[in-house]
Amino acid sequence: MERLQKVIAQSGYASRRKAEELILNNKVKVNGKVVNELGIKASDKDTIEIDGNILTKEEKEYYILNKPRGVVTTTSDEKNRKTVVDLIPTDKRIYPIGRLDYDTTGLLLLTNDGDFANILMHPSEKVQKVYVAKIKGIITAEAISKIKNGVMLDSVKVVPSRLKVKKVDKKTATTVVQISIQEGKNHEVKRIFDSVGFPVLKLKREKLAFFDLKDLASGEYRRLTPKEIAKVYSLKD
Ligand code: URA
Repeated sequence: MERLQKVIAQSGYASRRKAEELILNNKVKVNGKVVNELGIKASDKDTIEIDGNILTKEEKEYYILNKPRGVVTTTSDEKNRKTVVDLIPTDKRIYPIGRLDYDTTGLLLLTNDGDFANILMHPSEKVQKVYVAKIKGIITAEAISKIKNGVMLDSVKVVPSRLKVKKVDKKTATTVVQISIQEGKNHEVKRIFDSVGFPVLKLKREKLAFFDLKDLASGEYRRLTPKEIAKVYSLKD
């Protein structure tokens, strides 16, 4: 017997966090009865129903995608916009691990393995994410040192592990910077630069943990190798 949210995550239906949300929102039935507490345990032998669909186990799939601009990081969009899941032809219920904004490009992992997703999203794993941002204006030494000292976001001090100016273009009055962060807050990079008065014009995620975008053009994807999958699982140990 395992916790219900874990059984749901292992089936590939959703991440553990999303499964908890579904349970608390009365969307989950076990053997025909709505369950809305997180303490409940279940096993493969129980009939679990989510939103009227009976849960079945499916084979796990793992992808890395170079997300293009103008695609939503979700499994379905109420405005019918193209989603990251639409870019990968599969009959499995894969979903994105974390989020990139509609206009952000770059590295995104997708899977239907809830445990795998959980390792990369859990704050205790301190997974490094490296972004390259083109910002409006010529950044000042003062702004750089403010960011390096930490910016308050959602009452938490966010200190980048690295911040590097890559290019200053006086003609267009823009700066290209590389920033490495560990948290996964919404619009985190944009909010960091906004807080010192330099809005982000363009944003790309280049790295996440040991993954990079090598050989993947915009819109391209590939399956992760068994070695890469094992390496993510070993982060937990
Ligand atoms: N930070 C942002 O502001 N946007 C993203 O898409 C990712 C990180």
